[in-house]
Amino acid sequence: MENQETTRRSFYSAAIAGLGTIMGAVLAIPAAAYLLLKPKSGTKTQWVDAADLNSLQVGKPEEVVFRRSRVDGWRVLNEKATAWVVRTDEHNVVAYSPSCTHLGCAYHWDEPTKNFVCPCHTSAFSIDGKVLTGPAPRPLDRFVTRVDNGKLLISPTIQKA
Ligand code: FES
Repeated sequence: MENQETTRRSFYSAAIAGLGTIMGAVLAIPAAAYLLLKPKSGTKTQWVDAADLNSLQVGKPEEVVFRRSRVDGWRVLNEKATAWVVRTDEHNVVAYSPSCTHLGCAYHWDEPTKNFVCPCHTSAFSIDGKVLTGPAPRPLDRFVTRVDNGKLLISPTIQKA
């Protein structure tokens, strides 16, 4: 009887110790990975195909939608993004960040006035991104772009003016 009791007690002790070890490992492994692994580097330039150059008219701004990957610490997020692109001549395109440089509202192209207009606090920008009326403190921010094989490629890197 005593031998059987000892066996049951030792079994429960071993089971509790085993569960404690498993729970400790479940908590410790992610913590160790967080502390020891380097976050993914966001320094590599990624070029995203945003539009066909031939689909853009010279001097007519167009809002294009594209997908981009963004590194957020240890995660890589794939998200939708937009840019206002202006084809300036046969070979060159400028891509503006879609956020107003005042407080980040989305602005739009106003065809009658031929300006970018922000509805939040009535800032206006010329087609080359310069501030026409405030309170926007600086010109529109730009994405880095290049044209390759008739495709407009956009890098998610933003250049502040
Ligand atoms: S956010 Fe555009 S004017 Fe204020």
